[in-house]
Amino acid sequence: MSLVQEIDYGTPRSNAEKTVTLTIDGQQVTVPEGTSIMRAAMQMGTKIPKLCATDMLEAFGSCRLCLVEIEGRAGTPASCTTPVANGIVVRTQTERLKRLRKGVMELYISEHPLDCLTCSANGDCELQDMAGAVGLREVRYGYEGAKHPNPGIDESNPYFTYEPSKCIVCSRCVRACEEVQGTFALTIAGRGFGSVVSPGMEEPFFGSECVSCGACVQACPTATLNEKSVIQIGTPEHSVVTTCAYCGVGCSFKAEMRGDEVVRMVPYKDGKANRGHSCVKGRFAWGYATHQDRILKPMIRGKITDPWREVSWDEAIAHTASEFKRIQAKYGKRAIGGITSSRCTNEETFLVQKLVRAAFGNNNVDTCARVCHSPTGYGLKTTFGTSAGTQDFDTIEHADVVMVIGANPTDGHPVFASRMKKRLRQGAKLIVVDPRRIDLVRTPHVEAAYHLPLRPGTNVAVLSAMAHVIVTEGLVNEKFVRERCDWDEFGDWAAFVSESRNSPEEVAKISGVPAEAIRGAARLYATGGNGAIYYGLGVTEHSQGSTTVMAIANLAMATGNIGRPGVGVNPLRGQNNVQGSCDMGSFPHELSGYRHISDDATRAMFEALWGQPLDEEPGLRIPNMLDAAVDGSFKAIYIQGEDILQSDPDTHHVAAGLAAMECVVVHDLFLNETANYAHIFLPGSTFLEKDGTFTNAERRIQLVRKVMAPRNGFADWEITMAIANAMGFKIDYAHPSQIMDEIARLTPTFAGVSFEKLDRLGSVQWPCNEKAPEGTPVMHMSGFVRGKGKFVITEYVATDERTGPRYPLLLTTGRILSQYNVGAQTRRTANVLWHEEDRLEIHPHDAEQRGIRDGDWVKLASRAGETTLRALITERVAPGVVYTTFHHPHTQVNVVTTEFSDWATNCPEYKVTAVQVMPSNGPTQWQEQYEDLARKSRRIAATVEAAE
Ligand code: SF4
Ligand code: SF4
Ligand code: SF4
Ligand code: FES
Repeated sequence: MSLVQEIDYGTPRSNAEKTVTLTIDGQQVTVPEGTSIMRAAMQMGTKIPKLCATDMLEAFGSCRLCLVEIEGRAGTPASCTTPVANGIVVRTQTERLKRLRKGVMELYISEHPLDCLTCSANGDCELQDMAGAVGLREVRYGYEGAKHPNPGIDESNPYFTYEPSKCIVCSRCVRACEEVQGTFALTIAGRGFGSVVSPGMEEPFFGSECVSCGACVQACPTATLNEKSVIQIGTPEHSVVTTCAYCGVGCSFKAEMRGDEVVRMVPYKDGKANRGHSCVKGRFAWGYATHQDRILKPMIRGKITDPWREVSWDEAIAHTASEFKRIQAKYGKRAIGGITSSRCTNEETFLVQKLVRAAFGNNNVDTCARVCHSPTGYGLKTTFGTSAGTQDFDTIEHADVVMVIGANPTDGHPVFASRMKKRLRQGAKLIVVDPRRIDLVRTPHVEAAYHLPLRPGTNVAVLSAMAHVIVTEGLVNEKFVRERCDWDEFGDWAAFVSESRNSPEEVAKISGVPAEAIRGAARLYATGGNGAIYYGLGVTEHSQGSTTVMAIANLAMATGNIGRPGVGVNPLRGQNNVQGSCDMGSFPHELSGYRHISDDATRAMFEALWGQPLDEEPGLRIPNMLDAAVDGSFKAIYIQGEDILQSDPDTHHVAAGLAAMECVVVHDLFLNETANYAHIFLPGSTFLEKDGTFTNAERRIQLVRKVMAPRNGFADWEITMAIANAMGFKIDYAHPSQIMDEIARLTPTFAGVSFEKLDRLGSVQWPCNEKAPEGTPVMHMSGFVRGKGKFVITEYVATDERTGPRYPLLLTTGRILSQYNVGAQTRRTANVLWHEEDRLEIHPHDAEQRGIRDGDWVKLASRAGETTLRALITERVAPGVVYTTFHHPHTQVNVVTTEFSDWATNCPEYKVTAVQVMPSNGPTQWQEQYEDLARKSRRIAATVEAAE
C-alpha cells in the first residue's frame, strides 16, 4: 500500500470550451483557453518549480519561482499567472531560469530555520522539494542572518499548530481561508521581512473567527501550519480513499495512515461532492473511532436494572435470535421490529430491512429519516415523482438567486456552504427564510438581499404569499408550466394562492414578516435568473412539513426553476446516509427505490430472490412502535446505530415505550441513551472499519473503504447477517459488494450500480441504470419523473402548538458546526472545545423581562416536560423566539418537544414548541439522575477496557 498522490496542477482548471495550442519545451500541448502556462506544462508532465501556487487557489504570483521564458516576449513571466496563448513557444528550463530560481530559493532558505531533520514535515515539505528541484547546493548569504519573525508557536487550536518561524509568507493559507472556506479569518500582518500570517486581530487561532476547517493547513507548503497528529505520529505512509461519515454533504477523504493508525484525513480533490475541501468534523473529529468509551464486546442482561454481562459473539447472537423468536411465538410475528441507521452504509441498511421483512416476517421497519426528512420523500414524490433533491452540488455555480429555507448550511452542511458562499461572492443573490439570523444572512463579503425572519410554524403561509406575488404580478413562467406541468392543477393552485388571504399583507399578520420583504423576495426569485432552493429541517420538522415541501415545489415549477443546472429543489439532508437509508427501503410502507409494499409485482420480485413470502401490510413507524409498546402489543426491537431516546421527540414517551418492551437490542458504538433500556448490546463498527457505500444529499453513491480491521471484530452488516441466520433465514454474503449487486437487481434506480463502477468512476448519482449508465446529476431535465409536474394546493393550517400565557415563547432547534446530531461521536473528540454544552439563545428583550443574564441557568419548560441549560443572550433570534441545539444528552431538549407531527409522515414537529423560560438554580432532578447514569456507563466502559 502506498500514499494516494493527487497531482497539483498549480492553478485551477479553466472551464472554457475553446482550446489553444502552444509549445512547451519543444512539445505541443492543447488546453482550454484561460489555462495557465504552469497548468498546461503539468498536464504534459512538466513540473515547473512553484511555492505560492496550488491548484485549489487562484494564481497569486508572489514567490517568483515559476518563471519561464516565452519566445518573442521580454523578461521571465511567472507561469502561474500567465495564461496560455495560441502558438506561443515556452521554455521552462534555461540557464537563465535556473539561475534565477536558485537565487529565489537561496533567499527563502537563508531565512528559514535549518531543522529539517527534526521537522514534522520532513519528507512532506514543498520548500524542501523545491530546494531539490532547483538544484540548490549552497546559500551565498549564509545561514546566520536574520530569520523570519518568530513570535512563538500557537498551539491553541486542538488539531493543528502554527509555527510562524517556518512561514515563507506565500499567503496560500490566507487565500485558502478566503477562496475555499470563505471565512476570511487570516491576514498577512506587518510588512516586508516582518510579514506574518495572523488570525483575526493578531489573536490565537482558537480565539479567532477560524472555524478549523483545515483548508489553510492543507494549503501550507511548509510545516508552519501542521496537524498535531502528524507531529505526534509522524508522516503517513499509506492511504485509502473513503467517505466522511458525518453529514449529508458526503466529503471524500484520503485516510492517511501509519500501520493501522490514522495520521490525518486529507480531503480528496477528486471527491465530486467536496472538491478537496472539508469541515472540522470530517477532517479532524475522527478520534471517536478509537475512544475508550467504545464498547467492543457484546453484553446482555435479564432486566434493564441488572448489571451488564459480557458474552461471546456467538452467545449474543444466539440470545438475540432466541429472544426475537420467543417473543414472536408468544405475541405474534408483528410484535417485533427494527430501526435502520442513517449512519450505516446502504448495504447495512438494506440488510436490516431485509432482516425485518424476511426473517421477522413483517414490515415494522423505520429509520431516523422519520424524524427529519420523511416529508421531503412525500412532498417531492407527490409533486415531481422522485423522493430526492433535483441537483448536484456543482449546480450552485450556475445559480443566480439562492433561496435558503429553514436550513443553516454554514453549520449543518459546511462544505457545501463554502461553495454557496463562493457563488454569492461572485454576485448571486441570496434570500434567507428563517426565524433566526443565521450566519449566511451576513458573513464576510456576503449579505442576503432578503431575510424573512418568519414566526416558527408559518412556512406554508409565507411560501403561499410568495406564490401570490408571482401569480398576481404575472411572473409565472407560463411556457414551462404549460409544457411540463398539469395545466388544470396549476389553474386551481393559481386561483388558490391569488386569494387575498394569501397576500403578503395578510400573511404578514401571521408570520411577522413585512409584506414588502415577501414581495421583494418573490420578485427576486421569479425574475433574477436561475433560482435554486435549498432547504433543511426548518422546513420538514413541522406539522405541515410535507405541505411546505410541496409549496416549495410549486414555487419552483411556477417559475420554471427546475430541470437544468443552476435551479432546482434541494433538501440538505442531515446525516451522511439518510438519503441512502430512505432509498434502501427503510420505511414500513416502501421497499427499496420507494416502491409500495402493497404492489404485488414489486413484492413478487423480492420474494422470488429472497425465497420468502413478504407481508403486504405496511408496518409500524417508530412512533407507532412506541405507542404499541406502551399499549402492550409491541415487545421487541433491534436498533442499529440510532439513539432514539435522545433524538426522537417527547423523551418521556420514548422511554416509556422502550421500558415496556421485553427485548431491546441496541447495536451501536457506545452505550448511548437508548442503551439504558437495552437488554442486549451489540458493539458496532465505525466507517473506518468497513466497506460499503453512502449516498449523500445529491443522490451521489460513494464508496466507504475499510481503513482498519473492526475493533469489535465484525462490520455491522456481518452482525445483522448473523442474526438473520440464527433466526433461520439464511443469507450469505462474503462482501458488501454482493449486497449492492442484490440491491441493483431489485431496485430500478440502482440497476447500473456496482462497486466496480464506483471504484472506476469515483461516484455516481442515482438513477443509474440502462438509460443513465453513469448516473444522473440533474433530474427532471426533459420531463418530470411522474410525467406532468403536479401543483398541490397548500392550505396553511396553524399548528396546534400555540403560545399562551403559560408558554408564551416559541422554541426552535438546530445544530452547530462542531457537533453532529446527538453528539455521540463529536462529543468524544476535541470538538467539544467549541461547544461544551447546549445553550438557549434568547433575545435581550425576553431575557430582561425575565431577569435573565448571559450565562445564567434557565429552566425551559413546555407542556411535555422541562430541562435546564444556560442562557445565551443574542439578537440572532427575534423577540418571542428561543433557540437551542440538541447535541448534549444532559440537556435532552427533546424532553420539551411535543407529540405533534407532520400530518403525512409523522415527522415530529421539533421546530415549534411553546415554552416558558425562567431563571433556575441548575440542573433538574432527572438531569442529575442522568449524570449518575452516564457516570455509571462510563465506569462500565472503563472496566471492560481494563479487562481487555
Ligand atoms: S482552519 Fe479554515 S477557517 Fe481556520 S484559518 Fe484555516 S482556512 Fe480559515
Ligand atoms: S503559514 Fe504556510 S501557507 Fe501561510 S503564508 Fe506561511 S508558509 Fe504560506
Ligand atoms: S461533516 Fe459534512 S461537510 Fe464536514 S467533512 Fe464531513 S461530509 Fe464534509
Ligand atoms: S508559483 Fe508562480 S509566482 Fe509563486
